[in-house]
Amino acid sequence: MRFRRPLFQGICVPLAILLFFPLSSTAKAQSTRLAVTPPMGWNSWNHFGTKVDAADVRAAADAMVSNGMRAAGYRYINIDDSWEGKRDPQGNIHPNSKFPDMKALADYVHSKGLKLGIYSSPGPKTCGGYEGSYGHVQQDANTYAKWGIDYLKYDLCSYESIMKLWDLKHPSRPIPPMQQMKAVAMMRHAYEKMHQALVNTHRPIVYSLCQYGIGSVWKWGPNVGGNLWRTTDDISDNYRSMSLIGFSQAGLQKYAGPGHWNDPDMLEIGNGGMTPDEYRTQMSLWSILAAPLIAGNDLTKMDATTKSILLNKEVIDVDQDPLGIQGHRLAPLQIWIKPLAGGARAVAIFNTVLDDQAIPITLQLKSVGFTGPVHARDLWAHKDLGILHGSYTVVPPPGGVVMLRLWQ
Ligand code: GLA
Repeated sequence: MRFRRPLFQGICVPLAILLFFPLSSTAKAQSTRLAVTPPMGWNSWNHFGTKVDAADVRAAADAMVSNGMRAAGYRYINIDDSWEGKRDPQGNIHPNSKFPDMKALADYVHSKGLKLGIYSSPGPKTCGGYEGSYGHVQQDANTYAKWGIDYLKYDLCSYESIMKLWDLKHPSRPIPPMQQMKAVAMMRHAYEKMHQALVNTHRPIVYSLCQYGIGSVWKWGPNVGGNLWRTTDDISDNYRSMSLIGFSQAGLQKYAGPGHWNDPDMLEIGNGGMTPDEYRTQMSLWSILAAPLIAGNDLTKMDATTKSILLNKEVIDVDQDPLGIQGHRLAPLQIWIKPLAGGARAVAIFNTVLDDQAIPITLQLKSVGFTGPVHARDLWAHKDLGILHGSYTVVPPPGGVVMLRLWQ
């Protein structure tokens, strides 16, 4: 839907801009109360795209309760792009005919013990070409609060052309540094403006920034009130896309913590484009990364394998660990480690080779900070491994993972 640009994460935010937009105390206060652990839920986009309607959203809420996802910690039912209708003469946004009564839908979702999320853009149009919030920021925030919305994904989309971040005739041509600085400052301002509008409603609304990582958003996302921010372009339901995005998060760990999370995009688990082992890789890697766990499949049609992945409570507990520390990679192998409360560590060992080679990989326990005997549990086999000494060798399947909890 969106114009595919070359990745523009390289734009670094000059100090002058950071000083120009200092962290407001309101922004910090609001962002730390919400999303104390990475948000968990469902979003309509990856499976339904622009076809989603109110019945699909109700069905997702019903399924989240009946299939055990709510009990496992999933809470948000998020409507992505394509709910937007026209504005009335007073400028109030109305949903389109697919969503006849947004307040009734929110009431229904709340009656299930869940929360409702919605989507908009700072630009005049969303990425799908629907009505954005440009010129109506406070008015839209008020409308969301009136409907009972609990989460907003705010997607840059057409605001890119207002910022003039690209030479639209020659999108791959770099723009001059001064123009870059101005563009990033405008974008920060637009995100801060919606944050302030949400604060003004006095309704706690999780604020999800979606601008694909432009301008190293992880460095300033919390300063504009973001509870989470997308770090990359869109994910697709294949191993290459998922693994490129997931493994590229190495180095971003210092920017995440309670109330403010790096978001490597939604889960594709259950959408059919990857093997069960590859989907276990996504669930494990996202949990090691303390990433939001936002399912993107049709919750009403989950097979047993999909359920066993999305509902693996032992892996979810790694993601939701109260310390809120994002894991990091032990270079150069794809061995990742996440410190957990009480001195335990989660370790995920990935096999990134897809050609049927199951390669033994040896983990040295001292490389993850342990000397002496270590207790171990396999979080996918759901099996205690007893006491380990010195090292442990695993053979993750192609595209798959072995994930352990280690403690002393
Ligand atoms: C962008 C976002 C996606 C999705 C679509 C909707 O591409 O990155 O996650 O929200 O817009 O149009």
